[in-house]
Amino acid sequence: MTRPIRRIAVCTGGGDAPGLNAVIRAVVLSARDRGWDVVGIQKGYEGLLDTSKIRQLDRKSVRGITHLGGTILGTTNRGNPFEYPVRLPDGTQTVMDRSDEVVENARRLGIDAVVAIGGDGSMRIAQDLAEKGLSVVGVPKTIDNDLSGTVVTFGFDTAVSVATDALDRLHSTAEAHERVFVVEVMGRYAGWIALHSGIAGTADAILIPEIPFSTEVVCDKIMDRVARGRNFSIVVVAEGATPVGGELVVKGDGEVGQQQRLGGIAEQLASQIKVLTGKETRAVVLGHLQRGGMPSTFDRLIALRFGAAAVRLIEKREFSMMVALDPPNVRSVPLSVATERMKTVPLGSDTVLTARQLGISFGDRQNGDALPE
Ligand code: F6P
Repeated sequence: MTRPIRRIAVCTGGGDAPGLNAVIRAVVLSARDRGWDVVGIQKGYEGLLDTSKIRQLDRKSVRGITHLGGTILGTTNRGNPFEYPVRLPDGTQTVMDRSDEVVENARRLGIDAVVAIGGDGSMRIAQDLAEKGLSVVGVPKTIDNDLSGTVVTFGFDTAVSVATDALDRLHSTAEAHERVFVVEVMGRYAGWIALHSGIAGTADAILIPEIPFSTEVVCDKIMDRVARGRNFSIVVVAEGATPVGGELVVKGDGEVGQQQRLGGIAEQLASQIKVLTGKETRAVVLGHLQRGGMPSTFDRLIALRFGAAAVRLIEKREFSMMVALDPPNVRSVPLSVATERMKTVPLGSDTVLTARQLGISFGDRQNGDALPE
């Protein structure tokens, strides 16, 4: 006979995203409702390597946190137990596989299942730990919205709202000074934040990783606006966008056990635009503002729904699955579906077509009457 669920654990891994606390609250309340004990693993999987980082979560510990940004459990994007960073005596860094310790500690602590809240990296780790015998369910988090298997990840809506608000604000100062603003948004190798905020915030050009751009085409758009008496322009550029034949702009070489850090394309592009158009041009990098603060209503709601759905999955013993939004329902997909490929912007999507029809340039030669399939 299968042993009944008595204790579950919850952890938040990778970069934070608005809505993490709402998921934790829904998990704790739904689990307590079933009479289960809940523990929080602090700082991603690190809490299962250093078990002093495990804390009990009761109803009181999740009171009043639905609307709070960040995560009460802390997070890290350096805690992959399969490639755990260690410093050698000579000061150099390397990585070691500590995944067996994670599985063993979870067993020793009587943890029957883990709710892993995270992005692509965390879902991949969850899947690998599941293959080693840990019972895991995933909850898709990331402002980048680049996880497959779910229509949307929580955190994305808030990030888009922050970026749209910034574009609204930049419009008035751009117009007052007759300047060009190049606004860099996050998103890693996917252009979701740039696309959605750029359309909602009425940008003149949106540059995304999925469509390599020509700086000349962007400048043509700016000068075309000048010819029509519009002496200012707003260009939204995703941090992962690249010029045709060009390379990603990255920050340093990245540390051992950490992902490549993107950033700097706005500054580069702004100086080229200034040279090519003669127009005063400024770069604005929105950075981590897009991840901080209160989750939007939409993100709170799906975060709560995801957390409750994760507990239902555990109850049904449907492990190695990730909860996913499939409107109007929350369903689940195997973790392998979520991680098999990155979800990028489909070029034929109606959102891209809408942008083109509105006259927004993607820095390529297509326009509204030359639509992709
Ligand atoms: O994945 C979320 C994200 O905010 C990306 O959009 C961005 O490239 C990255 O994390 C930034 O990471 P960090 O917080 O390590 O600077």
